[in-house]
Amino acid sequence: MSREEVKKLFHKNIMLIGFMGTGKSTVSSYLSKWLDLEEVDLDAMIVEKAGTSIANLFEQYGEEYFRDLETETLLEVQQREQLIVSCGGGIVLRDENVSAMKEHGKIVLLTATPETVYERVKDCKNRPILNGNMNVEYIAKLMEKRRERYLQCADIIIKTDNKSVKQISEEMIQKLIV
Ligand code: S3P
Repeated sequence: MSREEVKKLFHKNIMLIGFMGTGKSTVSSYLSKWLDLEEVDLDAMIVEKAGTSIANLFEQYGEEYFRDLETETLLEVQQREQLIVSCGGGIVLRDENVSAMKEHGKIVLLTATPETVYERVKDCKNRPILNGNMNVEYIAKLMEKRRERYLQCADIIIKTDNKSVKQISEEMIQKLIV
């Protein structure tokens, strides 16, 4: 199937969700180039809107303030079509976010083991949720706590451990067009 044919299948937005470090941004960039669709990164939009970093938003105003901005930004994005949207790992925590994503998007859940996630995020200083808790045990616990919400939200699920971005993207397209 050609790129044009694949593109025609997506009228809705492709929403990439999943725990931190599951590769949402990397896959989003690859897919957007491959399918020639616009890529939107919700966290980047929030940073631009707020004029400060995610870490700073959490520190100065608290998590709820960040979550409000996250919902507001998601609702704005959902008014558009044919985007590849990379969402922050906590997007599934609010029911209203999940409803909006289900209505306007095809939701792709990326997963990885806590060990893989740790290896991918261990040197990152801009993930306040993991501040002071950058270890496999904490990641595993938080992942388990959120597991049901991710699963309930997803239209399709892709495991990313030991796969290249190309493999993940091809698997995703295969599953989306079935
Ligand atoms: C968060 C994930 C982050 C970012 C914020 C909160 C979370 O995005 O939105 O730090 O609660 O899981 P990534 O999943 O892109 O790291």
